[in-house]
Amino acid sequence: MIIDKVLVIGAGQMGSGIAQVCAMSGYDVILHDLKDEFVQKGIQSISKNLNRQVEKGKISDEEKQNILSRLTASTDIQNAAGVDLVIEAAIENMEIKSKLFTQLDEIAPKHAILATNTSSLPITEIAAATKRPEQVIGMHFMNPVPVMKLVEVIRGLATADEVYEAIEDMAKKLSKVPVEVNDFPGFVANRILMPMINEAVYTLYEGVASKEDIDSVMKLGMNHPMGPLTLADFIGLDTCLYIMETLHEGFGDDKYRPCPLLRKYVKAGWLGKKTGRGFYEYN
Ligand code: CAA
Repeated sequence: MIIDKVLVIGAGQMGSGIAQVCAMSGYDVILHDLKDEFVQKGIQSISKNLNRQVEKGKISDEEKQNILSRLTASTDIQNAAGVDLVIEAAIENMEIKSKLFTQLDEIAPKHAILATNTSSLPITEIAAATKRPEQVIGMHFMNPVPVMKLVEVIRGLATADEVYEAIEDMAKKLSKVPVEVNDFPGFVANRILMPMINEAVYTLYEGVASKEDIDSVMKLGMNHPMGPLTLADFIGLDTCLYIMETLHEGFGDDKYRPCPLLRKYVKAGWLGKKTGRGFYEYN
């Protein structure tokens, strides 16, 4: 299975990060979103990241130009017709993803692999929206994608071994470290990370300590690069809540019950860094 051309769907933080690392590793990348302004914003953020690398002397200006020349903007899903791999990083909504995968299945060449960057939705259910469930797989990158080494490679119930191997191999070519994960709610990363964040929110909710002190405990006591409340703001409180709900529903165990304070913040529109306010305020 040879992968040369990649279509990344969704030009937000995750999608543009994925497009960047693919282009940096020599793949031809089409970055797709619903509106051209979204795609241009994604390309601008890639360009900004690359400029920083040039300033730091990590890449040359010529390399930057070569990377950018491997990137094409798209608002036409028919562009899936010319690729070997689709990596979907669109909104976390099963109905939208199912429709998208049905459409991609009709457009993409027969040999193409359809991957999703979902952080918690079942790969098996997404695969069931296609007629090629053996070629559907999870490829879960961490944020910020250019920095974080991990990719969870998630096998759906029907994922073929050669598809798993092709994606594992590609993740290595992207200078990432793939780990093999089976399809259960939250996979591994979010099954462990989100209950920790949720517990940090409960700790704040119950008045055990201030937000700054809760973060200090985990930063200075456990050597985490960010405290859990800062990390929640960085991920997005809506995303944290959504994943906790997925865990709660998927396992039916109350240990995954989202903290009422997390719900309250999301209802208030305090979604973290992206809205300027979460547990902390941002300018
Ligand atoms: N995009 C690209 N590069 C970035 C970046 C971004 N958004 N943010 C930071 N960087 C780069 C910097 O340019 C810098 O690069 P160099 O080493 O080449 O100079 C490097 O990362 C370190 O950055 P800083 O010195 O500015 O800051 P830092 O040391 O505090 O690192 C951090 C920033 C990497 C984000 C660090 O705080 C960290 O590791 N935080 C935890 C991140 C984490 O846990 N991510 C997982 C989130 S969960 C998830 O993604 C899964 C999910 O489904 C929800």
